[in-house]
Formats: sequence, structure tokens, C-alpha cells
Amino acid sequence: MAIIETCTISPLSAHTGAEICGVDLSKPVDAGLRERLNRAFVAHSVLVFRDQHLSPPQLLDAVQLFGDVFPQHNDRFALPECPLIHYISNQDSYPDGRRYIPGEGYHTDHSNAAEPPKATVLHAVRLPDHGGDTQFVNMHRAYEDLPDGLRRRISGLQAMHVYQSRHSARKLMALSEASRASVPDGVLHPLVRTHPDSGRKAIYLNPIRIEGIEGMAEGEALRLLDELLAHATQPQYEYRHRWRPGDMVMWDNRCLLHKANGDYDMRQVRYLYRIMLKGDVPS
Ligand SMILES: [Fe+2]
Repeated sequence: MAIIETCTISPLSAHTGAEICGVDLSKPVDAGLRERLNRAFVAHSVLVFRDQHLSPPQLLDAVQLFGDVFPQHNDRFALPECPLIHYISNQDSYPDGRRYIPGEGYHTDHSNAAEPPKATVLHAVRLPDHGGDTQFVNMHRAYEDLPDGLRRRISGLQAMHVYQSRHSARKLMALSEASRASVPDGVLHPLVRTHPDSGRKAIYLNPIRIEGIEGMAEGEALRLLDELLAHATQPQYEYRHRWRPGDMVMWDNRCLLHKANGDYDMRQVRYLYRIMLKGDVPS
């Protein structure tokens, strides 16, 4: 009961993000607090748990307060001792030697899955002294502010999501041999999806993975996608997370885009654990 009394949930912006203090996720969480945290996740879309220092098995247990674990696509980043957890690091390079910064450019995670992960969790292990923020934009707010004509135009449209869109400015790391066989070829998802827990609509975009829009010429589709992305990534829809040691951050992929920033001293290590939770078919 002491855990309930000390847990505080404080909004981090007018629309996105809440800070959770007074919870130690390495210890059991009772049903009442679990329910409260799950409601907070739906209401705020990003939960920031401060001062957690979790081992991979503890992290695996903690995230299951919110759902079932989703197997991530590229097993070259899996932790050998706990393969459902992957790592995010600035110490990897492309085969040509250029540094690989995972997550640059706005996107939502693994949308090429028929049932994309509802949530992604990052837990900071090592951080640079400055920079390396994660930016989020709220796609509910962006949808609600669209002009009526544009909202009508995108209603009912389906976008094709693939592992690596040929239109993407950012190139993903090549899949490992083992992962290639299990990653889906491509899947159609609605451009507007309804959140299963809140009933709110959101624009469902992903510039890294969307290859085109069903039944629309390529040029027209790319112009429409660019227009939606430019609208949705305006500052009024953003929550920018500045990482602190011990942060565990969980976000809702169904109604947010996010991106990493490679704006820090690359001689410093930035290393986080990543884990995802299963979602449903977007509709
Ligand atoms: Fe991501």
C-alpha cells in the first residue's frame, strides 16, 4: 500500500507525457497501481518512470504490467542473455563505416507488422552528458486540428507499410539472415486509426516504412504524406524528452511519432535497452 501513497503522476506537457515518481519497478506492483498506470498510459501516451535501475530480467518483468512482449524484428541487436530485449547504441556502424544512429527521423515502430507493437520502452543505461533527446509528436492532436477537407480526404485511405520504404531518407541496418525470414513483406494499414482504449482518432504515418497509398498515384501519395508529416511535426504537437540516468520511458506507437537526435558528442556512449509490447490490427 505504501507504493500507492507515494506514486505521483505529473503531466510533462499540455498533451503528451507524464512523469511517474515514487514507484520502484524492480519490486512487485499491486493491482490497483497497475490499473492506475495503465490508465495514465492511455491518457498521456508517454510515461516517464524516474530513478529505475533495472537489470534486463527486471525490465522484462516490469513492462509486462502493461502487456505482452513483442518480438523485435532485427535480432542482430538482441541482448544475448535476454533476447526479447534489444539495445540502442551509438557505437554501431553501417558496413561502409558510417556511424549508425538508430531512430533518426520521425517514425512509429515496426508498422510493417500486421499487428504493430502498441508500445516501445527504452531504459537508459548510459547517456551522453548533453543532447540525445527523444522527440514525440501527438498524432491525436494533429488529426483533430486537420482542416475538414483534408480529414475527409484521408478518411478510408490505406497505406502500404514495408520494412524499408524506397522513399525513406533514412536507411535501416540490414536485417540479419535469421530475421529476414520472419519479417513481413508488407501490410496495408489505415492512414487514420482509432485508439482501441480511448476511441480517439490519430493520423497513422511512417515515413521510414510507407511505400505508397492504395489506389493513389505515387506522386500524389508522396505529396499527401509530406503534407501530413509537415502538419503533424509542428512544435505545438511535440513533447521533447531530455533523458536522465535511470529513466524508463514507455510510449504509445498507436498515436505518436518519435525520433532520436544524434546531436551529442559521439565519443560518449549512449546505450539504452529497448523492448516492445504487442498491439492489435490498426483500424
Ligand atoms: Fe523507433
